[in-house]
Amino acid sequence: MKHAPRPNPYRDTWCGHLGAERAGSPARVSGWVHRRRDHGGLIFIDLRDRSGLVQLVFHPDTSGPAFAAAEKLRSEHVVSAFGDVVAREEGNLNPKMGTGAIELAVSEMTVLAESETPPFPIDEDVEGLDETLRLKHRALDLRRQVMQDTMVLRHRIVKAMRDVLDERDFLEVETPILTRSTPEGARDFLVPSRLQPGSWYALPQSPQLFKQLLMMGGYERYFQIARCFRDEDLRGFRQPEFTQLDLEMSFVDEEDVIDVMEAVMTTVFAIGDFPAPPPPWRRMSYAEAMLRFGSDKPDTRFGLEVVELSDALGGSDFKVFQGVLDAGGVVRGINAGQREMSRKDLDALQDVAKRAGGKALAYAFVEEGGTWRSPIAKFFTQEHLAAASAALDAQPGDLLFFSSDTAGVAANVLGTLRLELADRFGLVPKGTHDVLWIVDWPMFEPVEGGGLTAIHHPFTAPQGSFDDPASLGSRAYDLVLDGTEIGGGSIRIHTPEVQQQVFDVLGLDAAEAEARFGFLLDALRYGAPPHGGIAMGIDRIVAILAGRDSIRDVIAFPKTASGGDPLTGAPAPVDAPQLRDLGVKSLVEPEAD
Ligand code: AMO
Ligand code: AMP
Repeated sequence: MKHAPRPNPYRDTWCGHLGAERAGSPARVSGWVHRRRDHGGLIFIDLRDRSGLVQLVFHPDTSGPAFAAAEKLRSEHVVSAFGDVVAREEGNLNPKMGTGAIELAVSEMTVLAESETPPFPIDEDVEGLDETLRLKHRALDLRRQVMQDTMVLRHRIVKAMRDVLDERDFLEVETPILTRSTPEGARDFLVPSRLQPGSWYALPQSPQLFKQLLMMGGYERYFQIARCFRDEDLRGFRQPEFTQLDLEMSFVDEEDVIDVMEAVMTTVFAIGDFPAPPPPWRRMSYAEAMLRFGSDKPDTRFGLEVVELSDALGGSDFKVFQGVLDAGGVVRGINAGQREMSRKDLDALQDVAKRAGGKALAYAFVEEGGTWRSPIAKFFTQEHLAAASAALDAQPGDLLFFSSDTAGVAANVLGTLRLELADRFGLVPKGTHDVLWIVDWPMFEPVEGGGLTAIHHPFTAPQGSFDDPASLGSRAYDLVLDGTEIGGGSIRIHTPEVQQQVFDVLGLDAAEAEARFGFLLDALRYGAPPHGGIAMGIDRIVAILAGRDSIRDVIAFPKTASGGDPLTGAPAPVDAPQLRDLGVKSLVEPEAD
């Protein structure tokens, strides 16, 4: 037998649910005073709860003591109001309000809580609100419509992910937060153990090893909405703790994982009314992405592609370029099209090049007749200029840029320049979106000072021969949306021998590998199924779908760029006795208040 709902003392309906069909009947609502207007004897209050707004009317004759109370109401007071739902007259309909066909003629009201004057307006979407202030008063900030819309979108996206995966036989399994280091390329957050002084937990950079163990445990299809922790510099779309849709599958190859994720993401895009092109999404090799776009997460929504010019500009008198070419480097360029840029702006782009690791950036304006107006033109013959112009498809009036360096640095310089120019000249057409997979990754990349490191993580299945580890490929794939990496994964190593081969390349001998990853190697020795998976950055996905520039706007309680939380004041010093219990001694004196 179903129980009748218990009468709630605060409300019998939500504000935004009141419609014309309730006209003539009584209703009780609760919420926050959104706006208050005095109209010659009548007081109007827009009352807000999560569902929306409803207009309350207080009449000096019929509202009784509630009228006097309404005169004292201020923004963000919390009230409960009872009265009759009244259809509004023709001229008073408010089509902008969901409940604009009715109003509540209040006969009783209780003020449940008062509010001090809020530090910023809740009832309008003001551009450029100070973010620290917003974060400090996050409970107030979260009341704003734009934040509520975003959190609702986030909920619906995560629910859609769960639903699609549930339908496809995935099991949601939780993995530990207090664990050992998982190498995803960032620094670990560490937690000291009180019970084992001198020993530390690491917070997981991802559930990578646990999800692989779940495959070895026979679960076949796992997913988790997983919190990940990485102590890294928080530029752009990064947070020290962020959320992944993490998944793993057994007895699969790349196509199976890609297929599942295309299904998940298609549903997610539909939920967000996001006009992404339908799958299958095209695939681009890492090498092509780096060559044409100077990035492993290329923004393919605009041109300005990078062009290889080593042959066209080789054999010149320009010592800088020739020196780089002789040392095995490259000359590459971008045709930025018909642009005028001042000397000052061009100089500013030198800094962009330097920030991207380059030494400098050369430029040339193409003149009538094909000559170049450029500090470097004098070093080149007519044939050089003609060959480079042809490769760049240069027309009179075009502005060309050149970088000469190792292939990696030149790619980074021109890839960064591309984005900078797109930003400056508004080159991304509004409303266009592009999704693509980056595939055929190298397994390793060189580290400064010698040696190799895994580009993804060391559990990614390599492709090719270990005779020349530097040239090994990997079975990894990343998903890129509008120039942002929204996800990445791979087919994994599933034998202990290959896993040790990779550890060897990374300089982790058997003893060290056993010490750090013995639990993985052990499980691999007892029959591991071929498996692979992927993890998607939920915060990034929600931010892009919600059209927000910052992932802080799609996380209820985020951290600032310096890793702090203005709301709680975390991170904060702790008492000496607390540290002593943990067997920890700080080398840094806490700052006095
Ligand atoms: P990866 O390190 O590529 O892969 O992470 C997967 C996705 O997580 C998002 N992401 C972040 N989002 C916000 N802030 C951060 N600091 C941050 N770092 C990463 C990105 C990224 O594409 N274990 C592997 C996955 C696998 O191999 O299955 C992993 O974590 O959108
Ligand atoms: P320099 O001879 O060093 O004064 O350089 C002459 C021009 O070449 C300047 O416009 C520099 O910006 C440019 N230049 C120098 N090094 C590089 C490089 N590695 N790549 C591209 N342009 C460069």
